[in-house]
Amino acid sequence: MIIRVFPSSVAAAMALAARVIAALRDQPHLVLGLPTGRTPVLFYRELVRGLRQERLACSHLVTFNLDEFCGVGPQDPGSYRQYMERHLFKPLGLDPGRVNFLNGLAPDTDAECRRYEQAIQAAGGIDLQILGIGANGHVGFNEPGDWLVTCCHRVTLRPETRRANAGLFGGDLDSVPREALTMGIGTILRARRIVLLATGHEKARATARAVAGPLATEVPASLLQLHPDVELMLDEAAASRLPATSR
Ligand code: PGA
Repeated sequence: MIIRVFPSSVAAAMALAARVIAALRDQPHLVLGLPTGRTPVLFYRELVRGLRQERLACSHLVTFNLDEFCGVGPQDPGSYRQYMERHLFKPLGLDPGRVNFLNGLAPDTDAECRRYEQAIQAAGGIDLQILGIGANGHVGFNEPGDWLVTCCHRVTLRPETRRANAGLFGGDLDSVPREALTMGIGTILRARRIVLLATGHEKARATARAVAGPLATEVPASLLQLHPDVELMLDEAAASRLPATSR
């Protein structure tokens, strides 16, 4: 794993935006895997700003988001789809036909998960997967537990994950869905390149365990150690518990 530590969360977001812009310049048909959450808001802001500045066209870009809540439609203000519309898709005017999402309203979630895996394959696989990390070590919605599922699947969200997402539902914890659909850990590991963005002290422990701990389903992000091309972009706070040898 390559670890880069930046003096601030803004600097980390700017570096990640620059990385994605460079990838898009090299490869206009880039297939990009995308996260949601509080952390990537700054990254999306910098990405939109950078792409506008460079006047780089995104007309061939294809995106796949990591996850979506169950029981929430794409127009629901709490949905991850609407988060992406606000922070990236609308500002860039992305072609909705090139934007891919798990459907949280699908009546048959197994079939929906199979459809998503097949869509990723049909697009040629994900070239660059951007990830966040939960304070509990999750990536996507692959929550800590005794086992992990490799492909896209339906999950029960942990209480801390629901609390972390309450802001999307007006701070009302009861409104946060209890289940979600997510790419599996194998789906994520099949991406050609992975960049994980983590900022803030509350991510320091999970980041240290992901980088330097044993491979453990209790820390899903630790499985990223198996991938040959992973980069972590961290601010000082998120890097504060890394062993000196890994910095
Ligand atoms: P956060 O979520 O940026 O809101 O902390 C990150 C994640 O859960 O992947």
